[in-house]
Amino acid sequence: MRKSLKSVLFLMMLVVFALVAAGCNSDASGGGSSSAVDVGIVLPTKDEPRWVQDEQRFKDALADSDYSTEILFSQGSSAKEKENVEALLNKGIKVLIITPHDGPAAAAAVEAAKAEDVTIIAYDRLITDTDAVDYYVTFDSLAVGAAQAQYLVDNAEGTDIPLYLYAGASSDNNAFLFFQGAWEVLQPKIADGTFKVANSSEAEALKDTKELSREQLSQIIGQVTTNWDPNESKNKAQTHLTSVGDDMKGDVAVLAPNDGTARSIADVFASDGAVSSYLITGQDAEKASIQYIIDEKQSMTVFKDVRSLVTDAMGMAVEVLDGNTPETTGTYDNGSVEVKAKQTPVIVVDQENVKAELIDSEYYEASEFTGLE
Ligand code: BGC
Repeated sequence: MRKSLKSVLFLMMLVVFALVAAGCNSDASGGGSSSAVDVGIVLPTKDEPRWVQDEQRFKDALADSDYSTEILFSQGSSAKEKENVEALLNKGIKVLIITPHDGPAAAAAVEAAKAEDVTIIAYDRLITDTDAVDYYVTFDSLAVGAAQAQYLVDNAEGTDIPLYLYAGASSDNNAFLFFQGAWEVLQPKIADGTFKVANSSEAEALKDTKELSREQLSQIIGQVTTNWDPNESKNKAQTHLTSVGDDMKGDVAVLAPNDGTARSIADVFASDGAVSSYLITGQDAEKASIQYIIDEKQSMTVFKDVRSLVTDAMGMAVEVLDGNTPETTGTYDNGSVEVKAKQTPVIVVDQENVKAELIDSEYYEASEFTGLE
């Protein structure tokens, strides 16, 4: 008897607890004035230092802002991304700054936001195949790829140099822009015999075509994608080196699309005894890659000053909140509409200028690295 009384009391306590918890929840998501958010920011993943960098730069920039903001991460999932957007809509956001995990898949999330009169700013990656994107703040992504390729052309010596091509995720519109920018510089040098493609029959088959269609780019990217994943990059590089003969080793050149993939691929090339030297590109100026550049394990990176992108995105958001029309400098076709865009230039960084560009500009502190002269 005593026992069952105890159980009843325990159950009652549980019910009371559940009711209180439910009450708290509905307060938090009910958009009460204490939880109202003006600008929602959704970033693709915390697993890559690139996006953690953006989060930090947003926080630095927002320290003195009059408007309230909230940053959420989608952890590489379009479903989580949509949930994040919905959570922010419940908090009454007026502007959404979003880097889609997957360009076309994000259309549903931004359409839901547009339906509530929210202004959508695509941040670094374009959301494609929807008219529900108002603005795009971006780096010059064609220039990123062109700079990577130009670095290989300028620093490789001789002819018949084995060239390994890698690309980003095909769900990311930027992967196409980076590769297209790189291809336009590399293609004449493949056609004239300076480079020979080591790991893509599709690229080899298209070596006389300078301007590739989206479909042709897709074919090559499909073959050499890293999916922006360091592990996938490592596995692919291992497979490539295992399947070629020594004529495709020696002094080689590697087009790696960003720093995270570059470090993985570089480690694989460095540990192959038949590879005597490798040139390898990157982008993002991630700290770990700056150390790799200082240590001569990665040749270059393309520095995209995230501080400018954050300033542009927040500047646009504030203009919208203040009832003004943000300034733009051009447009990007997203497959459905011409999206008004503001574009930021990029800077090539290698051992020669790493200190001037990244330390003297106070992007990083010298104490974060070893062996910096
Ligand atoms: C960004 C790069 C980043 C890559 C992987 C691209 O859309 O522009 O900076 O390295 O995604 O996250």
